[in-house]
Amino acid sequence: PLPRTAPDARASFLVISNRLPDAPSAAAGESERARNVGGLVSGLAPALAARGGVWLGWSGGRRPGALELAVDASSTPARASFDFHPEWHTRFYNGFANRSLWPIFHGFPGRARYDESEWRAYVEVNDVFAEMATRLVAPGGTVWAHDYHLLLVAASMRARGHSGPLGLFLHIPFPALDLFETIPWSRALLDGMLAFDLVGFHTRRYAQSFVRCAEELARATATSSGVRVDGREVRVGVFPLGIDAAPFEEIDAATEGEIAELQAALRGRRLVLGVDRLDYTKGIVERLDAFGRMLELHPEWRGRVSMLQVAVPSRADVPEYAEQRRAIETLVGRINGEHGEAHWMPVRYVYRSYGRGQLAALYRAADVGYVTPLRDGMNLVAKEYVAAQHPTSPGVLLLSRFAGAADELEGAILTNPHDRDGMARDLVRALEMPAEERIARHAPMLERVRRSTPEVWADAFLHELERR
Ligand code: ADP
Ligand code: G6P
Repeated sequence: PLPRTAPDARASFLVISNRLPDAPSAAAGESERARNVGGLVSGLAPALAARGGVWLGWSGGRRPGALELAVDASSTPARASFDFHPEWHTRFYNGFANRSLWPIFHGFPGRARYDESEWRAYVEVNDVFAEMATRLVAPGGTVWAHDYHLLLVAASMRARGHSGPLGLFLHIPFPALDLFETIPWSRALLDGMLAFDLVGFHTRRYAQSFVRCAEELARATATSSGVRVDGREVRVGVFPLGIDAAPFEEIDAATEGEIAELQAALRGRRLVLGVDRLDYTKGIVERLDAFGRMLELHPEWRGRVSMLQVAVPSRADVPEYAEQRRAIETLVGRINGEHGEAHWMPVRYVYRSYGRGQLAALYRAADVGYVTPLRDGMNLVAKEYVAAQHPTSPGVLLLSRFAGAADELEGAILTNPHDRDGMARDLVRALEMPAEERIARHAPMLERVRRSTPEVWADAFLHELERR
């Protein structure tokens, strides 16, 4: 293998994702966040920390003009990045990736919109990623691409002569055939995915949907390991992503302080907690609404419970996201106006990101982890909540049936976020659950979360990818 630090040497292992973990510098004018937030970064950063190679992604900056590849060899893996042309930011990132693929893959056909020029930008940016990737990796090296932004890079890399293994992991759901085929370029996207050697998903259901689409639209035949198409084998696998539990389990002195402050502010009231990127797939409006409904149906809980919703800004210049933010703010105001008292606010809402220690403190202090996406590829917040609970006095995880994590976290109360009254009932059940039952449900979940680390996930995927 070539030395991983030399920018002119080609790496034997390359990871590609649109997002990199480090937030763009203030000079790039993109954001003031210290780190990027999201499941992809939370999972990939620890999984790759000791692996070497190069991680290629978008710098976070926007600049017209020449395409320059910046390589920073001081981190592991080395980071390589380039700026987006402003038009790519609008058409590729805000456009095709986040207004077409994101909604349709999450099952929101009403929110998906299609625009020919955005599709062209998607094809172009995938080609640019492929070009940069080909420059960085040895021709026979292993390439691991991530997520819906990069579905077309494999074909483009093969066309440039790359001969090594090419893998794709999709961090979001894969939709049913009926939805997938409504995308005007569904066949091209599917062919792009079928150009990889291995395609990985969080759950069996997403993998099955993909195989079904391949059979129906690309005339592939299902095999025991994936599909056979045009005389090639494409392996399809299920690799549920996990978290590094230790930093959430080990509560340090600073975190203890945060918990004490929070508890003083709660003055004996129970805490129901939501933590998400501000995204309509997370079901934040539905969750708040069900909390309000619970207060209506169960007035005995008034004044005895507070909900805290932490929402981190995300994709804020995409109109659906700006609209979602307004909807949340309006609803918080309504619930507090209708149910609040001078001495008690039912809902607290903060629009910001927190560091890991602060998140751990919030999770630990919360009696209910209220994790109710309408649809979510995995949802790592649910796993972080489990890891942060004290084993002898754990809180209750109230989890949407439509999160990938529901397949693994069997001790959660599974709820349907489309059913307001049902969710209100489940919330009361969570608040009233006796300690014995809470412990019995939590212990096996914690075991599972501890075992299923990002390293285990990456090892499993890469082992399969490199087994030829
Ligand atoms: P998604 O990938 O859709 O954002 P996940 O639940 O899988 O959803 O991952 C979200 C990640 O972002 C988690 O690791 C979580 O800790 C982090 N996160 C979410 N909200 C915040 C916040 N307000 N501040 C800091 N980190 C956050
Ligand atoms: C989800 C997606 C990731 C994405 C993250 C944050 O986890 O699967 O690909 O990085 O959200 O979104 P952003 O648009 O900020 O990268």
